Amino acid sequence: MINIAIDGPSGAGKSTVAKAIARKIGFIYVDTGALYRAVGINALRLGYDTSDREKVVSTLDSVKIDLRYINGEQRVLLNGEDVSDAIRLPEASMAASNVSAIPEVRAFLFDLQRQLAAQNNCIMDGRDIGTVVLPNADIKLFLTASPEERAARRHRELIERGTPVDYDVLLEEIKQRDYNDSHRAIAPLKPADDAIIVDTSGNTLQESVDNVLEIIKSKIDIPNV
Ligand code: DC
Repeated sequence: MINIAIDGPSGAGKSTVAKAIARKIGFIYVDTGALYRAVGINALRLGYDTSDREKVVSTLDSVKIDLRYINGEQRVLLNGEDVSDAIRLPEASMAASNVSAIPEVRAFLFDLQRQLAAQNNCIMDGRDIGTVVLPNADIKLFLTASPEERAARRHRELIERGTPVDYDVLLEEIKQRDYNDSHRAIAPLKPADDAIIVDTSGNTLQESVDNVLEIIKSKIDIPNV
């Protein structure tokens, strides 16, 4: 199987770029952040503080997460319930960031990610895919953009969805999550030594997709692309 790892901070465009490319080259797209989000909202629903390691670990025995692909779109099932929309709510982002710092949560999600990669040609995006989950990935990319650019993108997205949030609040949140994600003791956000770094600041989405696709085509042969 061919595995492409895309890591980087939130809002760098990973998921949109990965999704577009996966569709174009006929791979599945695995959004691993969604798995951490599902563990996070499960703990929230139980009324737990998502940074309380013991409490969060106690939820893992009774949590089952599955990914399904419907018309090429990833859907996330939490104990059989489709939570694909619920995991995008703002409270799910911080919950995911909190639970992702817990080693038992990372270990719990590790096998699922490895299995998906072993069974499918896939583009997998996350924070530690090239460094920890798939250290032997065929291609490793690290997508990044300035915090200001990422906050501005998120701001536009939320206005389009009709749920605007103040730009400064978003910028602060992004900086806080970057800090959490890159300073945690386990699997911190950082490029793998052999990752290709792509800065998407100032690029349109299409430019980022074209740029990443060119890099992929220069590294591996994909039929009919
Ligand atoms: O990509 P995202 O914003 O949906 O990720 C949600 C959180 O999960 C983010 O704060 C970092 C964490 N995460 C992680 O630690 N490792 C991954 N492979 C994916 C996400």
